[in-house]
Amino acid sequence: MSETTAAQSGQQPAARRGAAYDSAFLRAARREPVPHTPVWFMRQAGRSLPEYLKVREGIPMLDSCMRPELVKEITLQPVRRHKVDAAIFFSDIVVPLKAVGIDVDIKPGVGPVIADPIRTFADLERLRPLEPADMPYITEAVGLLVDELGSTPLIGFAGAPFTLASYLVEGGPSKSHEKTKAMMYGAPDLWAALVDRLADITSMFLKIQIEAGASAVQLFDSWVGALAPADYRRSVMPASTKVFDAVAGYGVPRIHFGVGTGELLGLLGEAGADVVGVDWRVPLDVAAGRVGPGKALQGNLDPAVLFAPTAVVEAKAREVLDAAAAISDTGHIFNLGHGVMPSMDPDALSRLVDFVHRSSAR
Ligand code: CP3
Repeated sequence: MSETTAAQSGQQPAARRGAAYDSAFLRAARREPVPHTPVWFMRQAGRSLPEYLKVREGIPMLDSCMRPELVKEITLQPVRRHKVDAAIFFSDIVVPLKAVGIDVDIKPGVGPVIADPIRTFADLERLRPLEPADMPYITEAVGLLVDELGSTPLIGFAGAPFTLASYLVEGGPSKSHEKTKAMMYGAPDLWAALVDRLADITSMFLKIQIEAGASAVQLFDSWVGALAPADYRRSVMPASTKVFDAVAGYGVPRIHFGVGTGELLGLLGEAGADVVGVDWRVPLDVAAGRVGPGKALQGNLDPAVLFAPTAVVEAKAREVLDAAAAISDTGHIFNLGHGVMPSMDPDALSRLVDFVHRSSAR
């Protein structure tokens, strides 16, 4: 079967299934029975690891994303150390923006900063379509990783249109998203054109990673919890659905995650996800009711619990496992409700992986 036919039919030929096809992570994402609940952590690669700080020394964040050997090493670090069930590709949601020529930098301790924010129709012209030739370093890094990872799956990822739009319109991180929302409410045609262009860039970023061998993808709409459901449905969901539809034919699981999205969980699934990521504010059994049948869930230990004594971490992790088991014996991927924090003790994360594996063994 040719690649195009495979993508169109939604079936993966055996050769493309890859060594990770039967991993606990991919089986759980497909809601198949697993030997133990798979676990990985958002932001598992990064400043919580001394070996990360060492290899990143003197290299700016976005430069590091363009060095395939370094990306490979950083992606593998948490897999080696914690024995997590999946690797997440080391990159950033703003890398494709930089690749199409947006002047963006990641300032340590701050986050992405955009030199000239996008605020008008004329500004949109700067968001040209992304092409594979814009990021050969991504294809190369994913290829190196898939070879090295063998049966451990690699998760590709991208920023969702709303979250990317927020950085582009505000010019940097924002708590209130005031300029973003002002555009969404006050200039709906401009907003729709912006998120549509971002949907195309994001779709291509995911396709590049899948074509190179990523066996699942996660769409991070980290800040979309700032929206009411009706506004999400009207102004954001069409663009996110466009992204999920664009990669549907590959047959790789599509995960959708945002913070503070308790009121949006049903819509996050409806947008086109196979797996809905849940933050720590909604117990998984309640989340399952909101998401509805047919989708796996990922989450959702409060990251701050990791700062408590081991016995407390294990009791809280047990609650997450029990809430997941109460609704189904399949379809749960253990994760934190948001990312690993730089100040976390990496040993506490390793112990948590071991605990989840031991106490969920069936
Ligand atoms: O381990 C992984 O999860 C893979 C790597 C990854 C990074 N960024 C590396 C990174 C992933 C998946 C992201 C996604 C990302 N980037 C998101 C969505 C995830 C989320 O947390 O909600 C967002 C919102 C961004 C934008 C961004 N990039 C922020 C807010 C920051 C932190 C700024 C800071 O210094 O506190 C970054 C920088 C960044 N991206 C770092 C890492 C490891 C830290 C930079 C460093 O180590 O110098």
